[in-house]
Amino acid sequence: MIHVSHLTKMYGPRTAVNDLSFDIQKGEIVGFLGPNGAGKSTTMKILTGFMPSTEGKVNVAGFDVFEKPTEVKRNVGYLPETPPVYLEMQVREYVDFAARLHQVPKASLKSAVDSAIERTGLGDVQKRLIGNLSKGYRQRVGLAQALVHNPAVLILDEPTVGLDPKQIIEIRELIKSLAGEHTVVLSSHILPEVTATCQRIIVINKGRIVAEDSIDRLTTRLNKGLVYSLMVKSPSPTALTALRSIHGVAAISEGPNQAGTGTKLTVEIAPGGPEIRDQIVSTAVSQGMGVLEFSSEKVSLEEVFLQLTTSEKA
Ligand SMILES: Nc1ncnc2c1ncn2[C@@H]1O[C@H](COP(=O)(O)OP(=O)(O)O)[C@@H](O)[C@H]1O
Ligand SMILES: [Mg+2]
Repeated sequence: MIHVSHLTKMYGPRTAVNDLSFDIQKGEIVGFLGPNGAGKSTTMKILTGFMPSTEGKVNVAGFDVFEKPTEVKRNVGYLPETPPVYLEMQVREYVDFAARLHQVPKASLKSAVDSAIERTGLGDVQKRLIGNLSKGYRQRVGLAQALVHNPAVLILDEPTVGLDPKQIIEIRELIKSLAGEHTVVLSSHILPEVTATCQRIIVINKGRIVAEDSIDRLTTRLNKGLVYSLMVKSPSPTALTALRSIHGVAAISEGPNQAGTGTKLTVEIAPGGPEIRDQIVSTAVSQGMGVLEFSSEKVSLEEVFLQLTTSEKA
């Protein structure tokens, strides 16, 4: 549904987006995750045909965004970072205006507006002035204008920024309900935001993709340098040597011995090696170490994100 190849955007001498390539399939919800200034909004503006790129090819809903910007706009709903919401307009009036802008045919105008208002839960406030609405409701109005023409693709730039926790949950639910029928791309600089809503994330840092995977696989894949923790009663030097000589063990460090709980051994595994948990445990047992506990120390996705965006390379 979205194909981006070697997309680069320069603002004068500054490179905001640097050689991005990715594909998004129909019905997916994908999150662009990256710190402020990573290039997320710039990429989204190009995907929606609002801004030209410097280099690269972008195809959205079957149309090249540079050659067919009108067709792209008809198939894309866009919630910009700062939605252009007309404060002196009534909610319904504005959604109707957006529908006309998106060239919804006259005959289906009313039903399109009704449906957008219903899906975004704006029924009770449709006669209110936008200027008198809370931030959460204004964000719904932004979403309503993005989906009023029932576009195949929705591009949502930081859709929950500035909302309170209750509003955040409501907007997330709303976005999730749009998946399947629509292809959704949303951006966020906050990790829980994308983990709560998206199936797949593209991590962007300094204009480049530093990781791209499903949320589960990303955690696992980046869990290179896996660490296991092994609690034993008696870590004899011979037993430790036997553990260290297992192929795939990078290092073992020994914690203090605590009466009752034993000694904690931290077993670091070399990245990309074979699965050796069985071997670690069986060696510990055959060496008579008195195994009390064995567990893996999970690296949280937060740590992964931090690793990805604070180093140049993934
Ligand atoms: N209109 C602009 N003119 C010049 N530089 C810009 C403009 N818009 C964004 N930038 C710069 O491009 C980079 C990427 O910005 P942006 O796409 O807004 O990132 P994000 O949405 O991830 O925070 C930043 O360094 C930003 O300062
Ligand atoms: Mg942005």
